[in-house]
Amino acid sequence: TGHAALVTGGGSGIGKACATALLQHGAKVVLGGRTLSKGEEAAQELDALGDDSGEDPVAVPVQLDVASDDSAEAAVKFAMDTFGGLNIVINSAGIMCKKPPFDLTGEDMNSLYNIHITGALRVSQAAGHIFREQHQGSIINIASISSYMSLTEVTAYACAKSGMMGLTHSLANEWAKYGIRTNGIAPGFIPTDINRKMIEGTDRGRRILEHTPMARFGEGSEIAGAAVYLASPAASFVNGITIRINGCARIDDV
Ligand code: NAI
Repeated sequence: TGHAALVTGGGSGIGKACATALLQHGAKVVLGGRTLSKGEEAAQELDALGDDSGEDPVAVPVQLDVASDDSAEAAVKFAMDTFGGLNIVINSAGIMCKKPPFDLTGEDMNSLYNIHITGALRVSQAAGHIFREQHQGSIINIASISSYMSLTEVTAYACAKSGMMGLTHSLANEWAKYGIRTNGIAPGFIPTDINRKMIEGTDRGRRILEHTPMARFGEGSEIAGAAVYLASPAASFVNGITIRINGCARIDDV
């Protein structure tokens, strides 16, 4: 309550679900994303859920390309200017690359690393300066089930998502002394723009469900509770973990 969050990839899917839950628990949210119109639409929807006592918005969009240092810094500055502070960052921006390993190019690998790992680092650095000064801040990195299980034809993505876990425990270690906690969430399969075509009504999707004891995909709102927990004082001694939320999926080779 009373905290402000910057959520990258906040205009859709898991980022939007996390932003919604933070807002429902009293935070103000900035939705950062490459496509401003998506953020604008989401912000309008979220703002309607927020505190209706004042005229000030509680959810606002910002154009953010996590592939750019300047853009990351500008988005953090925008959050500060808009809400007068920043306490939480959720790194949810992400892209997919589905290719067999022999077809992968260096460009594929670099692009996935740049958006996922370096993108999360850029935004965390920009916010980290503020968090260090105020000796308080919570960073939440969205990893994946592919960070720790093998899925077919998503090698570049799996490498990037494993890197997200590395980034999480590294920042948790290095920045704890500044009052900054860094944790992660590793979702299982949530049908969103990033993967809908791969898993909804496909053979791959069927195999995933067969290997998921709960026999269903998850929803963004089922990831968001962990984000609220990790962002809140209830998790004040929680640092460097990645919470797995996947309906107990035991996927290998899907
Ligand atoms: P999504 O496609 O709805 O969200 C990804 C968001 O990132 C989009 O809004 C997109 O515009 C934004 N984005 C992409 N490149 C960007 C850039 N350069 N700068 C700023 N924003 C950028 O998909 P979803 O599922 O919500 O993905 C969110 C995160 O969750 C991603 O990191 C994804 O890898 C991860 N994840 C998703 C799972 C799923 O089953 N949906 C499972 C595990 C992890």
